[in-house]
Amino acid sequence: MAKRRPLIAGNWKMFKSCQDAVDTARLLAGLASGADHTDIMIAPSFTSLFPVSQVLKSSAIALGAQNLHWEKEGAFTGEISADMLHSCGCSHVIIGHSERRQFFGECDETVNKRIACAVSNHLVPVFCIGETEIEREQDKTMNILDKQVKDGLKGLGSDELKALVLAYEPVWAIGTGKTATPDQVQDVHLFLRSLIGDVYGIEFAKSIRIIYGGSVKPANISELMMLEDVDGALVGGASLDAETFNKIIRFK
Ligand code: PGA
Repeated sequence: MAKRRPLIAGNWKMFKSCQDAVDTARLLAGLASGADHTDIMIAPSFTSLFPVSQVLKSSAIALGAQNLHWEKEGAFTGEISADMLHSCGCSHVIIGHSERRQFFGECDETVNKRIACAVSNHLVPVFCIGETEIEREQDKTMNILDKQVKDGLKGLGSDELKALVLAYEPVWAIGTGKTATPDQVQDVHLFLRSLIGDVYGIEFAKSIRIIYGGSVKPANISELMMLEDVDGALVGGASLDAETFNKIIRFK
């Protein structure tokens, strides 16, 4: 069976001023033009979303946010709603990134509220899951992922989750230079696809994109993309430079 259409996504985290973000996006839009073998998304910080959306208007690169709050509006100082993201030109939103789980109290329950909010507002959720180094050493990887997926998607039906992107990001591989081996990645992605299949049916599971994140770079993207159940990448550090990110986009 043909693989799903890939998605190469860049997570710019808390890097780049507005001007830097606009300049990088402009350069990337030029470099990546014609790369129509894959979907491309970048997620700058909230403050750069609107100016970057103006740069991306004439390109095929989608714009994503790094988080959202589940309430429609209200007295929630410091939070950003789905409507606000739409008004800045976003089509995607990263949810449950391990840095949010580790440093900002994100848990499966809040992840679930954010995913429900994203899908009901037609934002594509890029739902991040992953085990820590200790959990892997203790052989708990699949149990941890099982819980993160089931709790994160609780109460949501396959109709609502059609656009879902699942991002497997082993915490020990993020920003560390350690990439999971191709065997480790394929094992987990296959496990995740069968888990989705158990809950939502095999046809649905076959249609869902499962992307990998954690020290993805031009040197390792091609071997990752050759894996049967890998449908793209969520790239942190190596997405900050347009030329480097373009090399990842142009994987063979
Ligand atoms: P990295 O980050 O590519 O710098 O390891 C990945 C991520 O956090 O999404």
